[in-house]
Amino acid sequence: MNQTLIERTKTAFRKKFDQNPILVFAPGRINLIGEHTDYNQGFVFPAAIDKGIVAAVSKTNDDECIAVALDIEDSFSFQLNNLQPIVNGDWKNYVVGVVAEIQKKGKTIENFNLVFSGDIPNGAGLSSSAALENSVVFALNELFDLGFSKEEMIFISQKAEHNYVGVKCGIMDQYASMFGQENTALMLDCKSLEAIEHTIDFKDYTILLINSNVSHNLADSAYNERRTVCERVSRALKKQSLRDVSITELEAKKTLFTNNDYLKALYVLEENKRVHDASNAIKNNDLEFLGQLLFKSHEGLSKQYEVSCDELDFLVEEAQKNAQILGARMMGGGFGGCTINLIKKDAISHFTDRISKAYQTTFNKACSFYQVNLSKGTHLIA
Ligand code: GLA
Repeated sequence: MNQTLIERTKTAFRKKFDQNPILVFAPGRINLIGEHTDYNQGFVFPAAIDKGIVAAVSKTNDDECIAVALDIEDSFSFQLNNLQPIVNGDWKNYVVGVVAEIQKKGKTIENFNLVFSGDIPNGAGLSSSAALENSVVFALNELFDLGFSKEEMIFISQKAEHNYVGVKCGIMDQYASMFGQENTALMLDCKSLEAIEHTIDFKDYTILLINSNVSHNLADSAYNERRTVCERVSRALKKQSLRDVSITELEAKKTLFTNNDYLKALYVLEENKRVHDASNAIKNNDLEFLGQLLFKSHEGLSKQYEVSCDELDFLVEEAQKNAQILGARMMGGGFGGCTINLIKKDAISHFTDRISKAYQTTFNKACSFYQVNLSKGTHLIA
């Protein structure tokens, strides 16, 4: 964990409020495979990473709550008795959203002060939002002794995003950020919420994230639109979700749907299968097969589900040309953010040199590289 981040957050809190806070770390996440499947009650394969958000929180006798986003030097105050989504409130809605959802559960909290800071690059598709939500709900649960289980907390985080931020997200990000474990990826069944832990030995290979540094303004509405398409298809098939639809069934009823809706649903069903195949590949130590699945996933996300963009496609195509990279794909909601690459460790510097130049030349902007470790989920910092 980033000690400097912890110290920085703690020091800023003490300076501003002259109190000793409790400190919580909530990580971001990667996802090996299984994209846009969570809200279809399908399968995902995420892991928490060693980058995330540190929240410092304490009770206050003042007559309002104050929240400070240290990294962007922004702050606001609010009253607990009249919470509403804030128009264009960006990060503030994650905070008030969590508080409001706690209240909806019939729990009472008192005024508090919050300072948070993070080392997850914004808009990179590494779920800084889930990390923020989880850090706040976890800290308030601790501070006011609310007695929520971790499972209850992730649903509070998710609801905050649905009702206050307006993104109808699945449960993957909040789950991974809460339940992650060291060196472990979690194959999660989003219907039963049961996860199978996979300890991964990447041997001579490692995970490299490449940030396209594109953040798409319309990503949130496009995300909700995809969800609507999936719900429309499952409704037409009289199923609760796409989880209960087989590929054979979809093919048989193909004429019921527009080509667009059919392709979107097909992608989801195929991606669910890839998650299972990836689990077997990991169990069999077959990293090459795992890599091929990543490339296939990208193809589906780009051509069928249409949530990629030129920059992400470029990064994956370049990876595909390199024999030292077993697999790559866009990761997260899409329209920007990172690609995840399974790359030979000793090939990293050569590849990153080459790709930085090619990316700059093609798009007239820089891409960034991150290496992450699979790490522990949300916890109190002693
Ligand atoms: C975002 C959402 C998740 C998930 C991914 C796509 O990260 O928050 O719930 O749907 O996109 O897999």
